[in-house]
Amino acid sequence: MCRIDPNDVGAAVAALAAGRLVILPTETVYGLAAAAADPVAVAAVFEAKGRPRFNPLIAHVADVDAARGIALFDPRAERLAKAFWPGPLTFVLPIADRDAVCDLARAGLDTVAVRSPAHPLALETLRRLGRPVVAPSANRSGRPSPTTFADAMEETGVSAGAGLDGGPCAVGVESTVVALLGERPRLLRPGAVTREALEELLGPLGEAEGHAHHSPGRLLRHYAPRAPVRLEATAPRPGEAYLAFGLAPQARQVFQLSAAGDLREAAARLFTLLRAADATTPTAIAVAPIPDNGLGEAINDRLRRAAGHVG
Ligand code: TXA
Ligand code: MG
Repeated sequence: MCRIDPNDVGAAVAALAAGRLVILPTETVYGLAAAAADPVAVAAVFEAKGRPRFNPLIAHVADVDAARGIALFDPRAERLAKAFWPGPLTFVLPIADRDAVCDLARAGLDTVAVRSPAHPLALETLRRLGRPVVAPSANRSGRPSPTTFADAMEETGVSAGAGLDGGPCAVGVESTVVALLGERPRLLRPGAVTREALEELLGPLGEAEGHAHHSPGRLLRHYAPRAPVRLEATAPRPGEAYLAFGLAPQARQVFQLSAAGDLREAAARLFTLLRAADATTPTAIAVAPIPDNGLGEAINDRLRRAAGHVG
C-alpha cells in the first residue's frame, strides 16, 4: 500500500486532474473523490464502491462562490451557507452548470447536491484543483463509512491513485442533506447539522418522500457490518458484542460510544466501533438505546439502516 504518500496534497490534486480516484479526508467521513466533470472518473467511483447508479453523488467545492457556479442558489441556500459552511451540510438545488457536475454524478437528475467540507486538507485540495469533486463515503456500498485513513484504504484504497491521511474524522457521521427545491425545505438525510439548528433558520422542515432514489442513504440495509445488528438493547446476550452509551454492563465485548452520554462523542466513534465490534466476529452487535434529539437523530438513522430496518 506504500505506493500512496498520505501527506502529498500535490499528488492528490494531480491524480484528480488526471481522472484518477483519491481517498480524501473530510470532517464527517472519508470520501472516495473524483473530478465531478469527468464521467469516466465518476464511473470508476461507482464501480469501486459497487454503488447503484441511480444514487447520485455530492459535489464538493472550496467555497460558496464555487457552489454558486454549479447550483442555482436561493436566499435560503445563501443563509445556510453563511451559517454552516464550510461544514457538514449538503444542499440539493437545481443544477446550473451541467458540465461541471456530469450527468452520471447526478444520476441524470436536474438537481445537484453540493457541500463545502470543513477539513483543511480537503479544502486545500479543492482550492488547488479549482473544480468540483464528487466524494461519496469511501466504503464499499452498504458498509459502514470509514472515519480513519486506514479504514478508507481497506475499503476502497485499491482503486485510488492517491490518498491523504487527515487523521480521524471529527464528526464521524455523514453530512446532513437538505433539499431546497420546493416551497418547503426537506430533510433528506439527518446528519451533523441537527434538525433543530436547521429549523431555527428555515422554519419547519418537510420529510423525505418514500422513493429510495430521491432520498439519500435510504437503501434498506446500509452502513452495515457483517454481523447482524440488534437495537435498543439494554444488555448483550451471550455471544454478542455490545455498543454501550453511558452505563456499560460487565460483559466481554463492550465498546463504549460515550461513557459520559455525549452524542457528539458517540457520533465520532460510531462507525469505528461498529467495525471494531464486527472484528470480534460476534453472533450479533447489540446497541444501547440512544436518545433521538440533536445528533442522536443521525446516529439512530445510521443504526436503523445498519440493522436493515426502514428509517
Ligand atoms: O459527509 C458526507 O456527505 C460524505 C463526505 C465524504 O463528504 N459524503 C457522502 O456521500 O456521504 P454519499 O455519496 O455517501 O452520500 C450522498 C447522499 C446520497 O445518499 C445521495 O442519495 C444524496 O446524497 N444525493 C446526492 N445528490 C442528490 C440529489 N441530486 N438529490 C437528492 N439526493 C442526492
Ligand atoms: Mg455513503
